[in-house]
Amino acid sequence: MSSSQAHWDGAYADAETTKLGWYQAEHEVTISLFEMCDKKANRVIDVGAGVTTLIDALEQMNYQVSVLDVSREALRTLKSRHGNRISYLHGDLTNELQLDDYDIWHDRAVLHFLLEEEQKKAYVKNLESCITSGGYAIIETFATDGAQMCCGLQLCTYDESKLRSLLGEGWKLVHSLRHIHINPFGGERPYVSAIFQRK
Ligand SMILES: C[S@@+](CC[C@H](N)C(=O)[O-])C[C@H]1O[C@@H](n2cnc3c(N)ncnc32)[C@H](O)[C@@H]1O
Repeated sequence: MSSSQAHWDGAYADAETTKLGWYQAEHEVTISLFEMCDKKANRVIDVGAGVTTLIDALEQMNYQVSVLDVSREALRTLKSRHGNRISYLHGDLTNELQLDDYDIWHDRAVLHFLLEEEQKKAYVKNLESCITSGGYAIIETFATDGAQMCCGLQLCTYDESKLRSLLGEGWKLVHSLRHIHINPFGGERPYVSAIFQRK
């Protein structure tokens, strides 16, 4: 078991889902970005899905959903909710993964935990291994003027321009916005959410 898996399994074992700092009941911003994708884009991979209730919304929107997480604990929780209706992948985005093809990559609050250049390169390599030309990447992270720590871990925060340079010339920015996530304890957490399309 990697230290990353142990950390995240511990986080999910120690707290109720609704008391996790990143918990949100509603997903308006994320859904508005999914609605910008071509209607034919149906296969979604939600990376670092955790125990998000976004999956309920995606199922209702008739997406074919796969979830990937380094935490087996999180995957177990999702499996108890969604059974065999979705697919479950256990993996660490900082390693080279063997992924099927998808139309939409969604990441809320995972990228910002990757601090080393090599980890970020591995993330982009995994993204580009499964999203081909015309496909989308929806990436949501803490904004540069937001919190610098989450779940006891240091963060690398982003704004639109940092996300653009991370993905590089092969991606076109479709839309980005800043917004505030109110965590379960009432704290304000500025986020940036962006949708890119692969050229
Ligand atoms: C802050 S939580 C966000 C969960 C979910 N996306 C949400 O918005 O509720 C970060 C998630 O990313 C997962 N994670 C962290 N590092 C990861 C990595 N290197 N590879 C895959 N998953 C990772 C954690 O297990 C955790 O479920």
